[in-house]
Parts: sequence; C-alpha cells; structure tokens
Amino acid sequence: MTIDYSEKIPNNVGLAENRTLQRALEQWQPEFQSWWADMGPEGSKGFDVYLRTAVSVDPKGWAHFDYVKMPDYRWGIFLAPAEPERKVNFGAHQGEAAWQEVPGEYRSNLRRLIVTQGDTEPASVEQQRHLGLTAPSLYDLRNLFQVNVEEGRHLWAMVYLLQAYFGRDGREEAEALLERRSGDADNPRILGAFNEKTPDWLSFFMFTYFTDRDGKYQLASLAESGFDPLARTCRFMLTEEAHHMFVGESGVGRVIQRTCEVMNQLKTDDPAKIRAAGVIDLPTIQRYLNFHFSVTMDLFGADVSSNAATFYTTGLKGRFDETKIGDDHKLVGATYPVLEVRDGRLVSVEVPALNALNEKLRDDYIRDATAGVERWNRIIEKAGIPVRLSVPHKAFHRKIGPLAAVHVDPTGNVVDDATWARNERAWLPSAEDRAFVSSLMGRVTEPGRFAGWIAPPARGINNQSVDFEYVRFG
Ligand SMILES: [Fe+2]
Ligand SMILES: [Fe+2]
Repeated sequence: MTIDYSEKIPNNVGLAENRTLQRALEQWQPEFQSWWADMGPEGSKGFDVYLRTAVSVDPKGWAHFDYVKMPDYRWGIFLAPAEPERKVNFGAHQGEAAWQEVPGEYRSNLRRLIVTQGDTEPASVEQQRHLGLTAPSLYDLRNLFQVNVEEGRHLWAMVYLLQAYFGRDGREEAEALLERRSGDADNPRILGAFNEKTPDWLSFFMFTYFTDRDGKYQLASLAESGFDPLARTCRFMLTEEAHHMFVGESGVGRVIQRTCEVMNQLKTDDPAKIRAAGVIDLPTIQRYLNFHFSVTMDLFGADVSSNAATFYTTGLKGRFDETKIGDDHKLVGATYPVLEVRDGRLVSVEVPALNALNEKLRDDYIRDATAGVERWNRIIEKAGIPVRLSVPHKAFHRKIGPLAAVHVDPTGNVVDDATWARNERAWLPSAEDRAFVSSLMGRVTEPGRFAGWIAPPARGINNQSVDFEYVRFG
C-alpha cells in the first residue's frame, strides 16, 4: 500500500476519485497550516530536520528518513490495509460484517469518540510548542519535531474520518478542532491532561512516556472498532505512537542515568548537592512521575461508566487486544473490580464488567506503564544506588470519578486534608521543583553535545551516529 505523494494531500484512500471529500479537505488544509504557524513548534520555520515520513503503510519499512524543511512536512491520510471479511468482533453486533459506513443510530456516539481522540492530537502540539527553544541536543530537538509532526498527522487522520463520513457536522467538528486551545480559559481542549502545561523537558519526557501511552491504549481500543475506517486509521496511528513512547522512556532513562553518574561522582544522595551539580535529583524525578501518572489516570474516564458500556455493546470501542481475549466478547453478567471509598478506606467492589471498561483499560495501561518504570530502576540499580522509583497508587491525586472526592497518598491510603497539605510537597512537583528544572533548560545546538542534566542516547536515529546533524538551523 504505497502512499501517493504526487497529490496535494498525500493519501492512500483514493482521494483523487472522491472530489467532494478532496474539496472539503483542501479547504481545511490552509486552516491547518495557519494553526500550525500559530501553535506549532515556536521558531522552527526554515529549520531542516531529519524526519521520518510514512511512504507506505506496510508494517515493515514504511518510514523514509530525510531532511524536511519546517513546516513543509507532508501531512496526509494513511489507513492500514483493509482486512478482508473483517467482522464486528464484540458487543451486540458480534459476527456481523464490519461497517464501511457509519451506522445511523450510532452516529453521534461515534462522532464523539473521534472528536475526543482528535482533540488530543493538536493539544499536545500546543503544549509542547515552546520546548524547541530549550532542547538539550539536536538529537532531542529532532525527536520533539518528529513527535509534533506526527501528532499533526493524527489530527489529519481524525479529520479525514469526520469529513469523509459525517457530512456537515463532521466539517464543523473539524473546524472546532483547530479553534480550541490547550489551557485556554474560554475554549480549552476537551480532556484535562491536555490543558496542563509541558513547560520543561522532564515534563515532555514524562508526557510522552505516560500520556502518549494513554494514546496507545485509546487507539488500540478504537482499532478494534466495528466501524472499519476508524479501526484502520487507528492501526496505522499506533505504529507512529510507538516512537513517541520510546522518546519518553529513553528520555527519562537518560535523565536518571546522568543523575546517577553525578551522585556517584560526588558520593552523595543530598538533593541540594545534586542540584548544585546541575542535575535533577531522584526525588524530584519521582514527583514528576507521580504528577504525570496521576493526570494520565484521569484520561481513562470515570471508573464506572454507562457510556463505556454503550460504546462497547454497540461495537464502537473494544477492549485492548479484544480479539486475543478468551471470553464471549459480550460481557453480559460478567463483573470487574473497581475502587470505592468506604469508612475512609479504599475497598474493591465488583460491578458489571460492561460499566467498568474504563477501569479495565486503566489497569491494562498500569501494567504496561509500570514495566517501563522497572526498566528505569535497573539503570539506578546498575549504578549501585539503593533508590527505586515507583508508580503511585491509581487512586492518588485523581480529579475524575468518585476517587476525586478524597485525598489518597501514593501508597493508596486515604488521608485527611491536613495530611495531604503537609505532604503534597513530597508527593507532587512544587513551584520550586519546577523552577529548578526550568533553570537547567537551555538550547544546545552543537552536533553531539548534550546538556549537562541528560546523558547521550545509546544510539542515534535510523542508524545515524549520536553526533549526526539532526537539525540544520539554515
Ligand atoms: Fe497522537
Ligand atoms: Fe503520540
């Protein structure tokens, strides 16, 4: 499945044969470009960046690497190949042929799912727009831009679905996706975590590790959708998402590695001395981790949700790895544990599994996210330092669902307001932590050089060396 780059909008969906859709998208394209100019990476115009661009949707070898002049990246519309005879694999329509058109009765729910996913894509570009000014190396600057252009493309992916399948209201939603702004008081992005700031590179790496991983789980669930164009779109997006999580995992890992080196040189675990040496102390890294993990927990939605049940039963959104799960894929009568607060303690209660699908996806996510934290711990262990990072309890610092009504400490104890207030400084990044981290930020532009607070990566991008000139400023 090769992508046609001779067209104004690169695509593998036969856009040239669909004049109406082509016109609609060509009308939206300049609006996207002006949004990118306003809200995309600040000060990047004219940079030559060593980027990968999708040239096919083949699982192997779809990527082509070359210098691209910002902002001339060729955003386009790419769907994974159709699976012949694909079926709806869960819910009330299980066994029916997958839908190639939007089923009328599910139209508004389907649109809502697509808009909610679509909204996160430009939001993260907006959140990250200042980071290029303080990139710790050319290698990292290139990775930031790669993530940004692909999030832009993910917006295209969702806008394609809206314009191709939802008529006039789809076009209106496509416009609105360019009008909301991350953190805007009047017209914010839809989901909380996407209105938070990403003010420094430690936040960026935590965001791409934790929050892009939420993207992976949402996309994987939508890739199971009975609505086949959505499934195929998300399947290709997932291949791009993997790199974003790699940027996060390796980024945090390199910060930890550098900190451990300095701790061993100075033979100290005193945060003040470690900070004075220009690296980020492990307790601060733990607080950033706690923050990003907890705001990402909220992205999965309410623990008990009748919407989640509806999306599943109607075949719109499946579970992670739906077709690999060995049950009836209908879940009628099945139960699943969720947390409730009773007598000042968290207790696990069984609720109908259909209503607990958000919680199930959250639990799948936690297993995956925790595994990477263990890989970070191996870096610390190898350095001979007896500190371990951990993910906080899933009820910690929640803003959504019944758990938002109480304070829960990182180990899962419900605590009173006074205890919370006394310890918040130890559990979440303080203004002072953030000011310290931001004091370390400053752009490093010499190929092969890295800021003092982060170790170089083990290898470069696409077999290039670490000191390759990943960005030319022109
Ligand atoms: Fe994305
Ligand atoms: Fe992403």
